[in-house]
Amino acid sequence: MTPPQDPNRVAIFDTTLRDGEQSPGISLNTSEKLEIAQQLARLGVEVIEAGFPITSPGDFEAVQAIARAVHGPVITALARTHVADIDAAFEAVRDAERPRIHTFISTSDIHIVHQLQTTREDVKGQARAAVAHARGYVEDVEFSPMDATRAELEFTAEVCQIAIDEGATTINIPDTVGYAMPHEFAAYLERLRELIGDLADVVLSVHCHDDLGLAVANSFAGVRAGARQVECAVNGIGERAGNASLEEIVMLLRTRGADLAGLNTSIETRELARTSRLVSRLTGYVVQPNKAIVGRNAFAHESGIHQDGVLKEPTTYEIMDARSVGLEANSIVLGKHSGRHALRQALEQLGYSIDGSALSTAFKRFKEIADRKKQVTAMDLEALVTDELREEIAAYTLEWFDVEASSRRPPHATVGVRTPAGDEVIGAFTGDGPIDAVFRAVNAATGLEGRLREFRVDAVTGGQDALGETSVVLELDGVSASGQGVSTDIIEAAGRAYVRALSNAVRRAAALKQDGTQGEASEEPAERAPVSAP
Ligand code: KIV
Ligand code: ZN
Repeated sequence: MTPPQDPNRVAIFDTTLRDGEQSPGISLNTSEKLEIAQQLARLGVEVIEAGFPITSPGDFEAVQAIARAVHGPVITALARTHVADIDAAFEAVRDAERPRIHTFISTSDIHIVHQLQTTREDVKGQARAAVAHARGYVEDVEFSPMDATRAELEFTAEVCQIAIDEGATTINIPDTVGYAMPHEFAAYLERLRELIGDLADVVLSVHCHDDLGLAVANSFAGVRAGARQVECAVNGIGERAGNASLEEIVMLLRTRGADLAGLNTSIETRELARTSRLVSRLTGYVVQPNKAIVGRNAFAHESGIHQDGVLKEPTTYEIMDARSVGLEANSIVLGKHSGRHALRQALEQLGYSIDGSALSTAFKRFKEIADRKKQVTAMDLEALVTDELREEIAAYTLEWFDVEASSRRPPHATVGVRTPAGDEVIGAFTGDGPIDAVFRAVNAATGLEGRLREFRVDAVTGGQDALGETSVVLELDGVSASGQGVSTDIIEAAGRAYVRALSNAVRRAAALKQDGTQGEASEEPAERAPVSAP
């Protein structure tokens, strides 16, 4: 890939599905990853890092599904410098319109000595061989010297030069442990540009972690120092404290980029809020209310003085318009008299085009909700459609439940669960609370011993009749998995979330068994046989 034609265009490289998915407790299945990738394409990101295919057959399958179905962005996959990693990455992305292989190796002595247990010479050899091997497959190859900001700059420059000589088209400088400060990071990049003249002929990229809360500031400093690709993740999710937040860097460039010689991105910013909600809903990672750009309060004014000023003139206290990040999407309102056509139109406006039986099911759910809720907003619809999409891939489904609850005796629940084989199994339990009773009744019905680890309830919108969104993390035979559910009835939402988490755990346990590994995806996966091309 040659650098973008507009020298002020900053390419947004989204790593929500790779680095983001490495956040503790997140485990997305293929259909959830595909849904996020489709939304990222709608958002207009230049590059989607879809996963790390060598780490598991599930990751491989998801990257391949995204490469085949998502049009527009470059689709890339991560690979260590090992031949097997690069082969797996290529097999996974080869069907993409614009495939890229992203390979990396550490250049810091801390990593070389303690983690890789090798030498600088070997690192140079591995980088050379990996980029050459990847270039044998695709024209677009990215190379990252991991932990670069704690490495000797001259050595990192030597390794990057080797990568460019072998045909790397993007050089990405990671602040892997979030240690750098903006002025240091800028100076590092400026010096690299002085040492490596050829850096001018490839795309210079930055990848910053948020351990000291500086990921966005460092990314911005990187852009000012000449980087024209920023690696970031929706809602800032990622290893440990996360990656630079996509929405923050995008709105920073939009709001202040003009002051810096017109720096800009290709992002359709009105899709930011929706993308954030989707990622939060599917990962179970809540967005804090005061989070910049996409937090519930990001555009809310509480103090009388501020409200007074904004009423007189919005720019008194607003530097951005809520509509520019898509927060007004909540204004689409349907009621109980709205028909199928109105629902389809509203969903289309939200970017979901569904028809046939999927529309009928969504309509049935919509009517149930509209009966209990006066107004169904865009956010309700999003929650509902995402909930329905999940249903298709669930192995077990909650068919019905009865709960007897009273302050005078322990609650008792009976549930009916549809198994993957299509049978209905029934279970009952008397628990500590109505939700606990439902969860344990599901265990009794399925014969699976799920152990609840986390449970959360959020309201999708405000108001007494708000839709409740629940998120469950459970453990089944040492495998943890999450599930989400949506309903106006909290017990029903919780039951759905629990059954989905159980299904995900069963699926995950089966995949791990097939894989023969028990490890989570990590940046340094255990050595293993190459993933064979399916
Ligand atoms: O943080 C990091 O160094 C990474 C690399 C693989 C780019 O995620
Ligand atoms: Zn990272």
